[in-house]
Amino acid sequence: MARTSVLRFLRAGTESPTTWLAILIGFLFRAAICLHPYSGAGKPPMYGDYEAQRHWMEITTNLPVSEWYAETKQNNLSYWGLDYPPLSAYQSWLYGKVIERLDPDAMALGESHGYESADSKRYMRQSVMISDLIVLVPALLACRRVFCRGSAEKGDLMLLGSLMQPALLLIDHGHFQYNSISLGLAAGAAAAVASGKDVLGSILFCLAMNHKQMAMFYAPAFFAHLLGRCLQKPSLSSKMAAIARLGLAVTATFVVVWAPFLANPSDALHVLHRIMPLKRGLYEDYVANFWCTTSMLVKWRSIFSQQALVWLCMGSTLLAAMPVLVQEVRRPTARGLLVCMASSAFAFYLFSYQVHEKSILLPLMPVMLLGPDQPIMTRWLPPVACFSMYPLLKKDGLTLAYIALMLLWGAMTWPAVGEERKERQTEASRDHVEAQVSERWRSLLLMGLYVSVGLAVGIHAAPLIWKAPKQYPYIFDALFTSFSFLHILGLAVYLQYQGLANKQLKGD
Ligand SMILES: *[C@@H]1O[C@H](CO)[C@@H](O)[C@H](O)[C@H]1NC(C)=O
Repeated sequence: MARTSVLRFLRAGTESPTTWLAILIGFLFRAAICLHPYSGAGKPPMYGDYEAQRHWMEITTNLPVSEWYAETKQNNLSYWGLDYPPLSAYQSWLYGKVIERLDPDAMALGESHGYESADSKRYMRQSVMISDLIVLVPALLACRRVFCRGSAEKGDLMLLGSLMQPALLLIDHGHFQYNSISLGLAAGAAAAVASGKDVLGSILFCLAMNHKQMAMFYAPAFFAHLLGRCLQKPSLSSKMAAIARLGLAVTATFVVVWAPFLANPSDALHVLHRIMPLKRGLYEDYVANFWCTTSMLVKWRSIFSQQALVWLCMGSTLLAAMPVLVQEVRRPTARGLLVCMASSAFAFYLFSYQVHEKSILLPLMPVMLLGPDQPIMTRWLPPVACFSMYPLLKKDGLTLAYIALMLLWGAMTWPAVGEERKERQTEASRDHVEAQVSERWRSLLLMGLYVSVGLAVGIHAAPLIWKAPKQYPYIFDALFTSFSFLHILGLAVYLQYQGLANKQLKGD
């Protein structure tokens, strides 16, 4: 019984040729980006994220589990020590075992550092695409069925947007990471929970967190939604039973995933120690969050102690997402869950401790799941997210792919702005006053879009025309972060407003 319902959940249902075409286009562009460089290509001694992933495969395939996260004679943690939770390690082991068979030198313990044969590079690239195919695509198809129930066309647009948003494409298939696995698991969890399969959803969400700890950004959203649903049960005993069942599902999933490390407490402690980021600083490099952007004006790190900053970050993060979370507890809905996931991830990105620029992928995923009903969010956030990571992408040699994908995104979404305007105009002309108001609002929005794009192009052009003044060597990076921060903050506030005011998102 449970098995058939899981199978039915995974099975393709209403997919049409357009759906498959959207997936095909997504993979065509994945294959094309693979031809571009990745992070740290040919840059000894540390290389980059590609080498980190290859090194984890080398470590997991050659050493016993107890040494994966520990500093030992064979495992030098200063050289890309494993710092993701166990599911990432198992994934490294699995792909590593396959690549070891095809190209043994690529996995040789201690001797394969920086190994980049043409074959092994191809296998690594293909492993990311396979991950998309077996995790991200089925999850998006499930989301299409659950969140875009009314319209097949909207569902296909949601799918195409999710697969073609340039930020995830460039980070996973250019820069080189496996974000799609944890993002796909979280999307699958959202689809499961929103269609009433709370236990399956909780298991999938725990797997997402056990692949990348950053999936924790969504935890308040799942907590609020599931708590709200449990509270809707008629009697106290059924409320308690529902909560207990979910608690059991979460505990069991963690026990199974961590089983190889639980026999010996010191093994589990090594893992915990490696995946907790608190020992690092408030932020890294140039990230478009509140702390990094305002640090130009306020020296946070000299005003507060590290401990105080951790608390300050935690408090402001929770506060920032609170309004929609409270609403979700009181009235849990399917699309409300998506708004909460995005708002909570925005809050973590903007205010939490030790945020990486790549964390913008977390709010981006649930935003894209909202689909064409939220045109401002789904059209504007992807290029802004991609723009905010430009300094990183440039370092990787991905500028060409970046320009191509941004122009493509513009071409995909820009003409629709005008068309929709005309459509709304005729629709609204029935009521003259409303037509005037909505027309003024639309023009304002369009003007904002032009100004924003103009500024973005200007910020790209500035370092090509001027040299940074001596007293402000990082001025251009600061322009990137300030522009991105203001946009991301604006979009986060707008989404939260939509979540609280929009009938369709509230579920009225
Ligand atoms: C460990 O790796 C770091 C970074 O590559 C290197 O500087 C250090 O010498 C290595 N330590 C040992 C013992 O090999």
